[in-house]
Amino acid sequence: MIRSVILGTGGYLPDRVVSNDALACLHNLDTTDAWIAERTGIRQRHVAAPEQQASDLGLLAAREALAQAGISADEVDLIIVATATPDSAFPATAVRIQHKLGITQGFAFDVLAACTGFVYALGIADSLLRTGAARCALVIGAEVFTRILDWSDRGTCVLFGDGAGAVVLRAEEGQGTAQDRGVLGTHLHSDGRFGDLLHVDASGAQDVVRMAGREVFRHAVSKLAAAVDEALEVAGLTHADVQWLVPHQANKRIIEAMGRKLGLPAERVVMTVDRHANTSAASVPLALAEATRDGRIKRGDLVLMEAIGGGLTWGAALARF
Ligand code: COA
Repeated sequence: MIRSVILGTGGYLPDRVVSNDALACLHNLDTTDAWIAERTGIRQRHVAAPEQQASDLGLLAAREALAQAGISADEVDLIIVATATPDSAFPATAVRIQHKLGITQGFAFDVLAACTGFVYALGIADSLLRTGAARCALVIGAEVFTRILDWSDRGTCVLFGDGAGAVVLRAEEGQGTAQDRGVLGTHLHSDGRFGDLLHVDASGAQDVVRMAGREVFRHAVSKLAAAVDEALEVAGLTHADVQWLVPHQANKRIIEAMGRKLGLPAERVVMTVDRHANTSAASVPLALAEATRDGRIKRGDLVLMEAIGGGLTWGAALARF
């Protein structure tokens, strides 16, 4: 049985760091560091330089993932970029990164599932690798989300940041058991009835994110809990088998609720939201990159990922590193 084995991870955050206080000052917002930190856990976010686009951030994350995997660019025959903030409608950001990496073989395309984008892209890549349509994939989440915020909407603009994360996956032979290395399952969902709760409003001069925060919060806790249970059940695993939770980084309170639900101690839940804020499709691979780089996630560890975002879209993925 073919498994999509994660051989490397990478992440990139723009140099510019903006604290909550600096953001409030910069945009003349009626908010405080204490309010933002208490409700969300966010203390700061990274903001891309004006000339940086999603493909620039994604390229740097991809390079680190390739280096960590020990894979050269000419082995890669599939690139999927999850982004809600592409360089342009086309060429796809994935094709731009393919070009910047000097790759001319295989195929590349973007996936749009907002903050769930990386989990969707991982699921699609896993399917393509397991059917033999590709052998080696780069899956990237890359966002310049601060470009689509309404800086007069304090309930939303304080939540997001820019960044990119990436993983390299290669098709390898497994035994077909939950002990195999690789992606053990991805479970994807969407329900457009809730589209208005978190969407991009394109009616004005500039596209901006609109969110009904409290409603999204309510959906997040119940839908993520159902998705992780589904992923574990289908894999024949239980809460006790999970070694690391790498959740979408939207809100500390949602992350902690998921950790409690799984019975995981706080040190087994990877948390970056305090420093990265919500980087949408980049948040899960950025958190993965951080926890593999610093040695927390090791070969053989079972990692549970989950995310929810605009659509609404949501899902969970299980992988053994
Ligand atoms: N600073 C100070 N006050 C703020 C504020 C800010 N940045 N943003 C909102 N408020 C105010 C509101 O105006 C409201 O004031 P009012 O009672 O005078 O009307 C009050 O705080 C409560 O607003 P509410 O939106 O109900 O707050 P909340 O406790 O739900 O927290 C979020 C708001 C956005 C932090 C919270 O709903 C949340 O995190 N939701 C999930 C969002 C998310 O994860 N989205 C991404 C999913 S991918």
